[in-house]
Amino acid sequence: MSTIALAKDMDRDTAVAGGGDTGTRRYARLPRPDLTFTDEVREATAPVYEKVKHLIPEIEWPLLAPVIHAINTLKVERNAVILAHNYMTPEIFHGVSDIVGDSLALAKEAAKSEADVIIQCGVHFMAETAKILNPEKTVLIPDMNAGCSLAESITAADVRGLREKHPGVPIVTYVNTSADVKAECDICCTSANAVQVVESLNAPRVLLIPDQFLAANVARQTDVEILTWAGACEVHERFTADELREYRDIVPGVKIVAHPECPPEVVDEADFTGSTTGMIDWVKEHRPEKVMLVTECSMADNIASATPGVDYVRPCNLCPHMKRITLTKILDSLLEMKDEVTVDPAVAARARTSVERMINLKS
Ligand code: 13P
Ligand code: SF4
Repeated sequence: MSTIALAKDMDRDTAVAGGGDTGTRRYARLPRPDLTFTDEVREATAPVYEKVKHLIPEIEWPLLAPVIHAINTLKVERNAVILAHNYMTPEIFHGVSDIVGDSLALAKEAAKSEADVIIQCGVHFMAETAKILNPEKTVLIPDMNAGCSLAESITAADVRGLREKHPGVPIVTYVNTSADVKAECDICCTSANAVQVVESLNAPRVLLIPDQFLAANVARQTDVEILTWAGACEVHERFTADELREYRDIVPGVKIVAHPECPPEVVDEADFTGSTTGMIDWVKEHRPEKVMLVTECSMADNIASATPGVDYVRPCNLCPHMKRITLTKILDSLLEMKDEVTVDPAVAARARTSVERMINLKS
């Protein structure tokens, strides 16, 4: 009897199929744990509370701590690793993640992972990247609807159209794209290495898709001619240079740190521009008295505990997709082994070439 037929025959409440492309791994659905705030839970989660107490009132901790404790217990039972993007909320970032970082770091860690299960706390393209690099592992995302305006701005057919229109021009895809799009491109890049990837191709002209603003910001740092696509991040495109100039007037001495998905005129107003991890490292190194992170709101929350004495000046914009990931959904993922991310093996093989070319570039 095949494993798939066996899974079908089992009690539907206790058998959950996993293992993605192969369908060979099956997991039991686990019973919901007791979520009482016991002394054991209080003690086990005390180091986490230390890092988030400036954000989460003490009265709310008895609700969150048991979920954090349950996730950390279950993740060992499932041999799961939790990869969390820097935009996750602080209770996820500090409470349950094994690895935190920007898209480049998460892709590299996914490639190295020895766990059976990867739980991607981030958006769908990040989970797909983890699956592309780990076809034999079970990759879960706590909410399948966690999308991205950049990933949704372009399709594989669009990329084929670009190839026809620009024969011989290499195509670099930002990691914020679907596996289908990555499969049509020559190499992948992230905000941390876009200039390096573009220059590694030794071509006079390169298509860098789909973020028009990242492309414009890269174009200013290289002699390579950059062609692009009309995509944009709905979080970063909303910042304006006028707004930043107003903040400089209102908050004298404030340092401004921006993400390269912001429009170039916004980047021009910044003291530093870099990937989310680049931004965090800059603040940790320079320890400005006042800083404004021109990016998603959780960034400041997450690094505040590691940077005492730094005053974080808002505004920031929330990413509604990243915010779909919650502690409760992570717990459900571990209990029910959902939502499983799969990628067609033929597409994954071609997309892997793109991602691995990037990972293998010498930094
Ligand atoms: P980073 O790779 O810099 O973390 O950016 C990912 C992202 O989605 C930013 O909007
Ligand atoms: Fe996509 Fe922007 Fe959200 Fe990042 S912040 S996931 S680029 S919509």
